[in-house]
Amino acid sequence: MEHNGFTLWFTGLSGAGKSTVANVVIQELRARGMKVESLDGDVVRTHLSKGLGFSKEDRDTNIRRIGFVAQLLSRNGVVAVVSAISPYRAVRDEVREMVTDFVEVYVKAPLETVMARDVKGLYRKAIAGEIKEFTGISDPYEEPLNPELVLETDKETVEESARKVLTYLEQTERIPIAVKVG
Ligand code: ADX
Repeated sequence: MEHNGFTLWFTGLSGAGKSTVANVVIQELRARGMKVESLDGDVVRTHLSKGLGFSKEDRDTNIRRIGFVAQLLSRNGVVAVVSAISPYRAVRDEVREMVTDFVEVYVKAPLETVMARDVKGLYRKAIAGEIKEFTGISDPYEEPLNPELVLETDKETVEESARKVLTYLEQTERIPIAVKVG
C-alpha cells in the first residue's frame, strides 16, 4: 500500500531508550509494509556527521543535517525515524518547520534512571570529568514543550512505549491499523 512519509523524531537523554523503542517501532512499521529508514545519532556520527563534536554548534549542525535527510526521505513517502539526543529546543523547532510532517516523541527518563542504567558507561566517565559537555551532567537538555508524545521509559516497558507510538500513528491516520490474521 502506498503511504505518505513523515518524520518520527525521538529526543531525550542518552540512555533514555530512544534507539531501543525506535527499533521496535521500525520493525512493526516494516511488518505493515511501510518504507522506513532509520537515522540514529550514534550511526549518523560515524559518516554523515563524522568529525563533529558535542559543542552546541556541532550538535546543531548534526541535527540540521539529520533534519535535512529526514525531509528528503519523508517527502518521498518514506517514514524517517530519527533517534538523537537533540538537546536544543530551537533547532528541533527549526527542523519541525522544515520537515513536511514532524512527530516529536519525547523519550523521558529521570537523570537518576539513565545514570543507574549507564548502558555505555558514559555517565560514570562524565561525572569523573573524563568526558566534557555531557548532556544532563555538564551540558543542557531542553525538554520539548509541546511534543506529540511523551514516553516515560522508567514506568513503561519497551513494548508499551512502542505501542503508544504505533497507536498514536494509527489514530492520526499516518499508518494503517494492523489487521490481525487468524
Ligand atoms: S546530539 O546532541 O548531537 O543529538 P547524538 O544523539 O548525535 O547527540 O549523539 C549522542 C551519543 O553520542 C550518545 O548516545 C553517546 O553515546 C555519545 N556521546 C559522546 N559524547 C557525548 C556528550 N558529550 N554528550 C552526549 N552524548 C555523547
